[in-house]
Amino acid sequence: MRLTRYFLPVLKETPSEAQIVSHRLMLRAGMIKQASAGIYSWLPLGYKVLRRIEQIVHEEQIRAGHIPMLMPTIQSADLWRESGRYDDYGEEMLRIKDRHGRDMLFGPTNEELITDIFRGHVNSYKDLPLTLYHIQWKFRDEIRPRFGVMRGREFLMKDGYNFDLDKEAALHAYNRHLVSYLRSYERMGLQAIPMRADGGPIGGDYTHEFLVLAETGESEVFYDSEITDLKFGDRAVDYDSVPECQAVLEEFTSRYARTDETHDEAVFHEQVPEARRRTARGIEVGQIFYFGTKYSEAMGATVVGPDGQRSPVHMGSHGIGVSRLLGAIIEASHDDKGIIWPEGVTPFHCGIVNLKQGDAAADAACEGLYKALLAKGLEPLYDDRNERAGAKFATMDLIGLPWRMTVGPRGLEKGVVELTSRRTGESEELSPDAAIVRISQIYAQI
Ligand SMILES: Nc1ncnc2c1ncn2[C@@H]1O[C@H](COP(=O)(O)OP(=O)(O)OP(=O)(O)O)[C@@H](O)[C@H]1O
Ligand SMILES: [Mg+2]
Repeated sequence: MRLTRYFLPVLKETPSEAQIVSHRLMLRAGMIKQASAGIYSWLPLGYKVLRRIEQIVHEEQIRAGHIPMLMPTIQSADLWRESGRYDDYGEEMLRIKDRHGRDMLFGPTNEELITDIFRGHVNSYKDLPLTLYHIQWKFRDEIRPRFGVMRGREFLMKDGYNFDLDKEAALHAYNRHLVSYLRSYERMGLQAIPMRADGGPIGGDYTHEFLVLAETGESEVFYDSEITDLKFGDRAVDYDSVPECQAVLEEFTSRYARTDETHDEAVFHEQVPEARRRTARGIEVGQIFYFGTKYSEAMGATVVGPDGQRSPVHMGSHGIGVSRLLGAIIEASHDDKGIIWPEGVTPFHCGIVNLKQGDAAADAACEGLYKALLAKGLEPLYDDRNERAGAKFATMDLIGLPWRMTVGPRGLEKGVVELTSRRTGESEELSPDAAIVRISQIYAQI
């Protein structure tokens, strides 16, 4: 992409309505525009990151054996009456009447709809285990939408649902989700810590929330500092292996880590030596849940078991806050100048700054780098505007591409361009060819 042809409406002023840094930076970098309270348009740069995050989520779900599909945003109230949640859900549910006077709603989640699909098509234990998921817009009429995409009313969520014959099999599905979530967040450059959470109105003893530590987080969290040393890394886990997935769960959840809802000061003191006790704030970027037969019993989702007996299936639901993740990543990775995207989610792989637009040698070198990056399957953003170098650097720093190539007549006389890391600010001079090799090596490891 060439900046002169792109749509990147960066703001010079710091928007006064934004209270936290991620919201400010997303507005300033021209990533989103508020359409109404808690509802945003995703401008091209924001949309690109959203798609990158979605892609990682898809890849990791599919790797875990979970099956993608797509359910509608608008649902019929009838199914929610069957589960009993139509009345329970309260004001957060956006209720709609169609022209025939039928009660509809904009889905805040999809347990009812997926259970209806399941009961219509699956009859036998032989079709289990089954985990279906989608990435779809949700609407929750939050009383206080705030912090930009962090607490929106309309937001993008990955929600997955497992169907299993018994509790044991459903807990394996739970563990599979935990493993796939750890992998997903790490690929996004994030540390998200699984913390024991509260079953809430859905109930259920097995639930963990994934929290990214950040001062602006809405949850208060309590944990053993050892937990922040855990890394999933690139280990290969066999998702079909019950003991392997169970071992990951134990490794990542045996230490004390709880949100304020489940925190118990006495247990905290008993289990964690004082020097390792931490209290902090966190952003919830996902949650996994085993809730047994709650929906399958209410809605008659049963299968015939090996013994010929019919019984309700054991279910769980598992969510990732796809759109919230943009805010969480920026909260975790920025500086005074702007965003610092982790390589895994960056909207463009590398920026190219032409210090002297119109200079024949500089223009030609930039074109060469641009085409060479494309040929390597990478997406460059070439700042080909007729602007001062300072303004170009400021834009690149604000939008946070992890790597920048700077090209000017003086360097070219020596046969070099400058490659700069957004994170460290360190630069090195390389020949254009060597710079291309370096960038492709960096992304080959992501
Ligand atoms: N209003 C929202 N805006 C953006 N993302 C959200 C919102 N509500 C939930 N999410 C994301 O969707 C994920 C799964 O949804 P879940 O039903 O667990 O949300 P929740 O526990 O009600 O969230 P919260 O406690 O933050 O209101 C959450 O972990 C969060 O990352
Ligand atoms: Mg939750």
